[in-house]
Amino acid sequence: MALRKKRAKVIAKAGGKAAAKKVAKSAAKLKGASSRATARKSPPRPSSKAWGEAGRALDGVRILDFTHVQSGPTCTQLLAYMGADVIKVERPGIGDITRGQLRDVKGADSLYFTMLNGSKRSITIDSKHPKGKEILDRLVKQCDVLVENFAPGALDRMGLTFDHIHKLNPRMIVASVKGFGPGPYEDCKVYENVAQCAGGSASTTGFREGPPLVTGAQIGDSGTGLHLALGIVAALFQRQRTGRGQKVLCAMQDGVLNLARVKLRDQQRLKAGPLTEYSQYGEGIPFGAATPRAGNDSGGGQPGWILKCKGWENDPDAYVYFITQAPVWQAICDLIGKPEWKTDADYATPNARLPRLKQIFATIEEWTMTMTKFEVMDTCNKHDIPVGPILSMKELAEEQSLRATGTVVEVDHPTRGRYLTVGNPIKLSDSPADVRRSPLLGEHTDEVLREVLRYSQKEVADIKASGALSAAEKKAEAA
Ligand code: COA
Repeated sequence: MALRKKRAKVIAKAGGKAAAKKVAKSAAKLKGASSRATARKSPPRPSSKAWGEAGRALDGVRILDFTHVQSGPTCTQLLAYMGADVIKVERPGIGDITRGQLRDVKGADSLYFTMLNGSKRSITIDSKHPKGKEILDRLVKQCDVLVENFAPGALDRMGLTFDHIHKLNPRMIVASVKGFGPGPYEDCKVYENVAQCAGGSASTTGFREGPPLVTGAQIGDSGTGLHLALGIVAALFQRQRTGRGQKVLCAMQDGVLNLARVKLRDQQRLKAGPLTEYSQYGEGIPFGAATPRAGNDSGGGQPGWILKCKGWENDPDAYVYFITQAPVWQAICDLIGKPEWKTDADYATPNARLPRLKQIFATIEEWTMTMTKFEVMDTCNKHDIPVGPILSMKELAEEQSLRATGTVVEVDHPTRGRYLTVGNPIKLSDSPADVRRSPLLGEHTDEVLREVLRYSQKEVADIKASGALSAAEKKAEAA
């Protein structure tokens, strides 16, 4: 309001009183409309704190994290990086099964676990123990979001049905990853590669003459976790208007299909004829009924392929992805020593090149093999020719620019020592990522019971004696 008045004053100085009146009138009209739209509460004034010092994006959001393995933990780790208080509930004595999977350091939590559960707190609760159920109900009342990726029906079997949760806390958002959405497969348990296959990725990955392939990127697990995180943030935003939580469901099949949508695009294009940008077209091989596997063909309209670079005989990653993008074709011809291709009718246009892509890439490869992948990248980027060096995990782990941006972070751990993890790949200019080591099993049990749930010291002692928190104590009590 002060700003609008100021603006009217400035205009009055520059353009006279009539103009100023007009601006003030339209501003008042606008104000009326916007205050009707945001009838609940006017937005806070912009913070006067320096960028990055006004807290984190999800400060104040508390998450009851019932996730395990990879898909759910990916989601809650991202939310934790963005400032949410993530309380991971684990089974006493066992915890998330990944703590013990693919162990590289005897007795220490595996990297599988530590790299997916950073910045969280851990509490152990037996969700089937009567006292455990009581604690969980209390946690439901204190949290904003419950995230889970149990097998279908497991949460209900614990008594945590949506109705029960909503009775306790109508603002609670209940977010789930499942393998499949409602339908014939909804009761199935699903892991990463099952989702890659069921979501259309595997049938379109690999070489035409070979079997379907899964990809190294965990698009089923981590990809679905990412989708879920977006759903949760959207539900939190909607809750500000409606005052109530809702269910958020991400099926892994749906998540993979969303990421493979260009292949469903191509499925529909098949009706109009062959997919001319696929190298299979140039090789004269007819298309079948479904989108085929396309090797290293580019997914867009610009042909591309993976080419050998210097050292490929001994280094399995001495390769570069090369794209023959039409706007830079002339520069490519000059660089690879084929200036005559710029005017040759067989090579000068994208359509003329389509049937010759194999031979064209073989010629470009003769040139890329004279340089390392990094030299190819340097040379090509000077001419705006997009290329991608095939970077190994070793190279990425050692890449200093990724350390500098916090995409690769080194953290310390009490039982395994220092390890690398992937920080927040989403950079918020006013919410620096909060990347901390993963918690030990039950490390924060006391802290959560006392500080979050406000149990007294005596009550905590009684809870412990009940066996609801620890498999060992449960056994001791029974003995
Ligand atoms: N206290 C007591 N019991 C607990 C518990 C706790 N704190 N936490 C979990 N459990 C129990 C569950 O209640 C369940 O028991 P129930 O089957 O008797 O009801 C049991 O542990 C096992 O849970 P479940 O999810 O079935 O684990 P699983 O190892 O058999 O299956 C998956 C693992 C991943 C296949 C399955 O959880 C799944 O399909 N999830 C959805 C899709 C998904 O996220 N897949 C990708 C994983 S990366």
